[in-house]
Amino acid sequence: MERTLILIKPDAVERRLAGRILSRFEERGLKIVGLKLLQVTPELSKQHYAEHVEKPFYPDLEQFITSGPVVAIVAEGPEAISVVRTMMGKTNGRESAPGTIRGDFGMSRQMNLVHGSDGPEAAEREISIYFQSNELIDYPTNLDSLTCADDEK
Ligand code: RTP
Ligand code: MG
Repeated sequence: MERTLILIKPDAVERRLAGRILSRFEERGLKIVGLKLLQVTPELSKQHYAEHVEKPFYPDLEQFITSGPVVAIVAEGPEAISVVRTMMGKTNGRESAPGTIRGDFGMSRQMNLVHGSDGPEAAEREISIYFQSNELIDYPTNLDSLTCADDEK
């Protein structure tokens, strides 16, 4: 089982798409183990996007990600990290395949609706940035036995 950090970015919250995007992850079979609405500060943005801070596009990225609240989600499931990345689509919405979140709802490289951790180390680091351990809830659900066979967990 893997956990991954998802952000529903300010453009999607402002466009009232948060519920529809969250629904996609739920419908796929991912389990929500953490969920909150928060305002990203410039400090938090620099921590989250540490790998991009020196890049030319970083000021615009910080301006965008701090422009309104985000919904932060920790989702759990088998290969959750790659499943979520595939559901998101390519970074640039214009290049994202139909059926992906970015390919269905967006046309922008910057205003691309969602963030998802891109690997196990990033997931662990990002989850700890956005959530205290006592904000993550580990609970069994009856659906667990229907969404995935035992040898896939
Ligand atoms: P994210 O981290 O937000 O999930 O997006 P990603 O992995 O698909 O893309 P990444 O390369 O990590 O870039 C992070 C965010 O920075 C903006 N960006 N702008 N102007 C540019 O060349 C450029 N490249 C990236 C995008 O908003 C991207 O989501
Ligand atoms: Mg990224």
